[in-house]
Amino acid sequence: MVTWPWRALPLAAVLLHLPSTAASVDTVTTEAPLGGNRTLVSAGGTFALGFFTPDATAGRTYLGIWYSNIPGRTVVWIANCVSPVVGSAATLKIDGNGSLVIVNGQGSLVWASPLMSAAVPRSGSATAQLLDNGNFVLRFAGAGVAWQSFDYPTDTLLPDMKLGIDFRTGLDRYMSSWRAADDPSPGEYTFRLDPRGSPELFLYRRSTRTYGSGPWNGYQFSGVPNLRTNNLLSYQFVSTADEAYYRYELDDSATVLTRFVVNSSGQIQRLMWIDTTRSWSVFSSYPMDECEAYRACGAYGVCNVELSPMCGCAAGFEPRYPKAWALRDGSGGCVRRTSLNCTGGDGFAVARNMKLPESANATVDMALGLDECRLSCLSNCACRAYASANVTSPGAKGCFMWTADLLDMRQFDSGGQDLFIRLAASDLPTDSVSDNSQTAKLVEIIVPSVVALLLLLVGLVICVIKVKKNRKAIPSARNNGQVTPFGQRNHIASALNNGQITPFGQRNHTTAPNDGQGNHQDLDLPSFDVATILYATNNFSADNKLGQGGFGPVYMGRLDNGQDIAVKRLSRRSTQGLREFKNEVKLIAKLQHRNLVRLLGCCIDGSERMLVYEYMHNRSLNTFLFTC
Ligand SMILES: *[C@@H]1O[C@H](CO)[C@@H](O)[C@H](O)[C@H]1NC(C)=O
Ligand SMILES: *[C@@H]1O[C@H](CO)[C@@H](O)[C@H](O)[C@H]1NC(C)=O
Ligand SMILES: *[C@@H]1O[C@H](CO)[C@@H](O)[C@H](O)[C@H]1NC(C)=O
Ligand SMILES: *[C@@H]1O[C@H](CO)[C@@H](O)[C@H](O)[C@H]1NC(C)=O
Ligand SMILES: *[C@@H]1O[C@H](CO)[C@@H](O)[C@H](O)[C@H]1NC(C)=O
Ligand SMILES: *[C@@H]1O[C@H](CO)[C@@H](O)[C@H](O)[C@H]1NC(C)=O
Repeated sequence: MVTWPWRALPLAAVLLHLPSTAASVDTVTTEAPLGGNRTLVSAGGTFALGFFTPDATAGRTYLGIWYSNIPGRTVVWIANCVSPVVGSAATLKIDGNGSLVIVNGQGSLVWASPLMSAAVPRSGSATAQLLDNGNFVLRFAGAGVAWQSFDYPTDTLLPDMKLGIDFRTGLDRYMSSWRAADDPSPGEYTFRLDPRGSPELFLYRRSTRTYGSGPWNGYQFSGVPNLRTNNLLSYQFVSTADEAYYRYELDDSATVLTRFVVNSSGQIQRLMWIDTTRSWSVFSSYPMDECEAYRACGAYGVCNVELSPMCGCAAGFEPRYPKAWALRDGSGGCVRRTSLNCTGGDGFAVARNMKLPESANATVDMALGLDECRLSCLSNCACRAYASANVTSPGAKGCFMWTADLLDMRQFDSGGQDLFIRLAASDLPTDSVSDNSQTAKLVEIIVPSVVALLLLLVGLVICVIKVKKNRKAIPSARNNGQVTPFGQRNHIASALNNGQITPFGQRNHTTAPNDGQGNHQDLDLPSFDVATILYATNNFSADNKLGQGGFGPVYMGRLDNGQDIAVKRLSRRSTQGLREFKNEVKLIAKLQHRNLVRLLGCCIDGSERMLVYEYMHNRSLNTFLFTC
């Protein structure tokens, strides 16, 4: 069992909340309407229903439900938020048609409950009862529920309430915010289910989406991977031909108060009542970071808060508007480097730990396993990506296939799921395979590492043989010029981990390959900051690529001072540690010779390692690729 929103509750902080035992009236009948002064109290004493006038609303009176035995009036439901009773007494009653109605002091109708279902007979004696879970239910003698407040949520989802759609009746239960904390008239935000593709919850500001939970993947909303089990709350997601909804339940609703709210500033929050402090405490609040802004990085863009800038492109894609991208506006998204072939040769690059793209236009086929899913996607020219549509257990059947642009993706540090993105053969990353099996994963890691290591050794041996003893002083190639940081960072792990970052992301220079033991005659090989490298190589653009060596791809670039460079990106999955890398760079630097390509420096960025060489235009490519 899992909660949503997704945060473990410190149980110790939540004290038992015992219901009062006072006997009370919990019903309205045709004969006994509810006058302005009376309140109903549910049988267990948890909730109260009555008229109230918020301080801020100048004489506007609302019919609401609130917790009856905690201080303050925490309103969880309102009947007439659009049509308050203004400046007069108000009465709730059941009219001759069998509807719940609110009339004002002059007897005029202010509000009437919507008719729920023609199938429920509206005859005989009617009773509206406030239940102890906060539901206000209208029934006719001997018949089912004619109307209930749980079907018309306002800004609060209580335990047992459904958030979603009943396809049989067309009832769409969604949450809508108040205008302000003390003004229950309708605000700007709604939180509702989009059932298309695989169901996803979206937060709207008026008609504009501002946040999506990620499509349901059989286990969770894929944008909310931190779903946690706990022994207080459990949640349920139902998606059938009849209905699709999200709902949570309290294991013991009598002892803990919790609510799920869309507040008037557009935050979706889980709140818990803390008896010791006599107040509500926010346990989670979403959207919680910039990557949760809807479509933050545009089509084929991948948002990652660990990176700066946070927008990157999926492998095989590059920014559509590099200038805007450089200014940190990633919303223009990314475009494919090489168009798909379709008839043969296309493959898939796996993106891990992903929030899946929105699925409104995706096909969901619960009969296909992942391998069949892949084949099915390959055979459809329009298919851009596939993923498992049921991650409940490995090997469970279920297939997502996206035939529209991939939107609203983000990458998590952990959690999320694998997304397989279709690419032309030439764009397939060499260090990535498009297969999901364990063996493939192992092969993917080990083979390139071993190959890289061997080639490096061979290269070093060649160098040792070729190079004479005279050690060349290394010119200071430190690039002190100002650099506009370009944006594409999807291959580059956290820039925050090493080096400092100014507010615009430019890293200060550090002399990385210093062993830190005062061995200064050793070398002073400069470390290039990653922004410099990205700028010089035009974000490692395909046009700048010189070729692919055993260590990884090599790119041509030009520094601000006009010097041409070649950048060798060492294989990302190299298992080499930072110290080994630095030692190796030092060794290579020591071996430098005028006739060889000169090493200018290195660049270490998270797990990414790059070597920066002087670029000699007439030199054969092999020199770059296969010597140090
Ligand atoms: C409501 O209650 C107040 C005092 O509690 C009383 O003065 C007033 O007359 C009552 N109004 C109605 C409509 O019952
Ligand atoms: C019943 O509903 C009809 C149509 O909405 C309305 O005209 C009529 O006044 C209602 N009757 C009563 C007793 O409220
Ligand atoms: C909504 O929640 C956010 C985050 O907890 C908070 O900063 C903001 O003040 C809240 N807005 C209102 C109107 O309560
Ligand atoms: C697709 O690949 C096949 C085989 O490699 C090739 O013959 C064909 O011309 C390619 N088609 C396109 C549109 O590139
Ligand atoms: C997902 O897979 C699990 C385990 O195989 C299965 O029990 C469940 O019914 C599947 N869910 C759907 C929606 O098919
Ligand atoms: C889905 O398809 C419709 C109609 O073809 C299109 O208007 C809409 O933009 C598409 N949505 C996405 C997310 O691609």
